[in-house]
Amino acid sequence: MDPVKFAIVGTGGIGTAHGRLMQSVPEVELVALCDIIPEKMDAFEEELGKPMRKYIQFEELCQDPDIEAVFVGTPNQVHVPVILETVKNSKNVMSTKPLSSSKEAAREAVEAAEAAGVVNMMSLTMRFSPSVQYLGKLCREGDLGEMYYARARSIRRSGIPDWNLGFVEAGGGAFRDMGVHVLDSSWWLLGQPKPVSVTGVGGAKFGPIGKGYWDFRVPPEDYWRKYDSDDYAGGIIRFENGTGLIVESFWASHQSPEVQVELFGTEAGAKLKPLTLYKTVNGAPHDSTVEIDDSQTRYAQTIFGHFADCVRNGTPEAAPLRHGLIVQEMMEAMLESALTGKEVLLP
Ligand SMILES: NC(=O)c1ccc[n+]([C@@H]2O[C@H](COP(=O)([O-])OP(=O)(O)OC[C@H]3O[C@@H](n4cnc5c(N)ncnc54)[C@H](O)[C@@H]3O)[C@@H](O)[C@H]2O)c1
Repeated sequence: MDPVKFAIVGTGGIGTAHGRLMQSVPEVELVALCDIIPEKMDAFEEELGKPMRKYIQFEELCQDPDIEAVFVGTPNQVHVPVILETVKNSKNVMSTKPLSSSKEAAREAVEAAEAAGVVNMMSLTMRFSPSVQYLGKLCREGDLGEMYYARARSIRRSGIPDWNLGFVEAGGGAFRDMGVHVLDSSWWLLGQPKPVSVTGVGGAKFGPIGKGYWDFRVPPEDYWRKYDSDDYAGGIIRFENGTGLIVESFWASHQSPEVQVELFGTEAGAKLKPLTLYKTVNGAPHDSTVEIDDSQTRYAQTIFGHFADCVRNGTPEAAPLRHGLIVQEMMEAMLESALTGKEVLLP
């Protein structure tokens, strides 16, 4: 099979990380880059050691007939404009999380991608990690029995990003940045039940006063003065089948840092880090830990190998943008509930 020819729009942290990972997957080939800061493209091209076609305007990149797929690695607020342009030009698309900075824009992206009939997928570093995939297989095969409850959290001590205003301005925030990963993964592990209501609390206790930034750094005042999103949020999501999910996300806190998912099933329970299964055997607790190679190259092979299979063989996407929309609706409901102090019902 010919490799799928990819372009990356946004050659910052996540774009270049995925560009590097593409080098280890034979089913895809990176051929073009796009960034509003040309020096970033030049530096990455040099690192890759092979010539890239380079564009400053993503609209222009989308006219390039040699490009089959676009990886979207821009700030949250710029995901949907890039997705819309990509699918308008009948190119396949993979977007980093979150799908968007609002549920309305997320819905527009999904509708356009589905109408265009292109392969459209979320790039989810946590859901497609070997540990979560391993746990997902156990859940699907019924090893945990009926799953009726889950807890998920992503907690940093001092981890507000200080390198891109998109993170802290409206449409950014801790929940869309980190909560999204544990929310998506736990929802997927639970078998993607239909969300019906969300109750949450949240706010910003560190960011707007210049505290809690990455690695205890102090950003310039004109950065933190523009803070306009949450730096923590947490609450409960209730699903149509009666399952409950507690989810928490803190960019900064006086707590120990942790990323965790815990599943409660009638036959067994599970914890993600370290990957542990809790069972009852012969009337006694029987707990076991599982060693998984969580390397980035295994993640890359899983996600890009699957994407190429979708493009070349018409296999349905394991994580279509529509999943990103459902997760976005849950996140926005959590933040709305925090703002209004009321439970939010999902249609
Ligand atoms: N594990 C993960 O899945 C993960 C990790 C980090 C970041 N992210 C996501 O990746 C996105 C970017 O985060 P980052 O940390 O890489 O930020 P970054 O600032 O390092 O990179 C963003 C890049 O996009 C470029 N850009 C901005 N507007 C553009 C435009 N109109 N056209 C082309 N390029 C443009 C910027 O110049 C920059 O190089 C965010 O949405 C974030 O949520 C995902």
